[in-house]
Amino acid sequence: MSERLAILGGEPAIRNQHDELFQWPVFGPEEEAAVLELMRKPNFFDNQTVPAFERDFRDWLGVEYVLSESSGTHAVLGALYGVGVGAGDEVIVPTSTYWASAVQVMSLRATIVFADIDPMTLNIDPADLERRITDRTKAIVVVHMLGYPAEMDRIMQIAARHGIKVVEDASHAHGSLYRGRKVGTLADVAAFSLCGKPLAVGEGGILVTDDRTIFDRAVAWGHNFRFNADEVKDPALLRYAGLPLGGITSRMHNLSAAVGRVQLRRYDERMREIDQAMNHFWDLLADLPGIHAHRPPRDSGSTMGGWYCPHAVYRAEELGGLSAARFAEAVRAEGFHTWTRQCIREPLHLHPLFQDADVYREGRPTNAASGRLVPQGRGDLPRAEGARAFTVPPFKRYEPAVIEQYAALFRKVVEQHEQLHEGDRGDETVQVDERGNG
Ligand SMILES: Cc1ncc(COP(=O)(O)O)c(C=O)c1O
Repeated sequence: MSERLAILGGEPAIRNQHDELFQWPVFGPEEEAAVLELMRKPNFFDNQTVPAFERDFRDWLGVEYVLSESSGTHAVLGALYGVGVGAGDEVIVPTSTYWASAVQVMSLRATIVFADIDPMTLNIDPADLERRITDRTKAIVVVHMLGYPAEMDRIMQIAARHGIKVVEDASHAHGSLYRGRKVGTLADVAAFSLCGKPLAVGEGGILVTDDRTIFDRAVAWGHNFRFNADEVKDPALLRYAGLPLGGITSRMHNLSAAVGRVQLRRYDERMREIDQAMNHFWDLLADLPGIHAHRPPRDSGSTMGGWYCPHAVYRAEELGGLSAARFAEAVRAEGFHTWTRQCIREPLHLHPLFQDADVYREGRPTNAASGRLVPQGRGDLPRAEGARAFTVPPFKRYEPAVIEQYAALFRKVVEQHEQLHEGDRGDETVQVDERGNG
């Protein structure tokens, strides 16, 4: 392709909008009917829908215990309390993730220790996490970033060797397979967000485990109406039945559960179409330098589930050092609004909340609750700080002709990247501009 780049005055590669291909979640008459049926019930009351959604989810995932939650954030919190995290403990979390994989550790009066990532998978690096284990480490939170399954075999071996619990944050990865097994079934407990995610129900989250003790503790923490002898078996906990130990209520609304039941029935079929569409897009670009598919190798038995917010991993060194920000600027000019900030550009350890915030007025940083201050500043997690990635079109439908247009857009920018060096202000400068504009 030899057309001039749009950012330099040429014609954009994409002129029409294709919003219908990117639309998510997809709601139809079945969701509407399910919601209306609930709204028409006397007093808006129903005690069937949430348990039914939990049964559906349990059968779909293949786990023993399922606890619906008001959000993914509360599911992670319940999982952390479930595995016994408390005052003085340390919990290892990847630094490149959404805050809700981490901040709840501080609510439980424990300390977050961030670990570095693999810049190609964007997932926690098992060797780095093992280096950060101390005798205070209670648990590891593993995130399957953007749907890409983390290296669970190695992580579970490390955890077993050190006697540490593992929480999967599977909020991006509903239906992703790790070596043929569904994520969310691979560790002690898993948490899923269900808000705006591959499986989207409105507001909601879900906790799953095969471990009765973890389930009991999670119920006791935030589900006062369920904290009774029917649901919780641990007699030591039942002494406190009726009041939530965490002083919160985390129940899912029945409207979310009603939507979830319909969405779940269609999910596998939709996931297959998304997978076909995204793999077609990336297969068309497999030979290009600089931009790399964020997906596991095809013969690995691992998959991307519903491809939550799909990304390209960017390697500036393969395009003569061109910044990711400048590359993204050129892509936007061609007609696709990519962005570079999602979860990757701002590793959590650099945020002041984990450095000096004294949230509970204790006269010391809240993240030093283990009694050991673990300072982690710029340069300490270099691969996360250096990782570059940007969003690619999130195709929800398989329409090869349109997918090919978008692939041609990315090919055009890669093939003509040399024209972009002039005017490249580097990643940090453009980042400030993006913030200022945003
Ligand atoms: C990795 C991860 N964990 C947890 C959450 C929290 O989920 P929610 O927004 O449902 O509380 C999110 C939400 O985006 C997330 O991306």
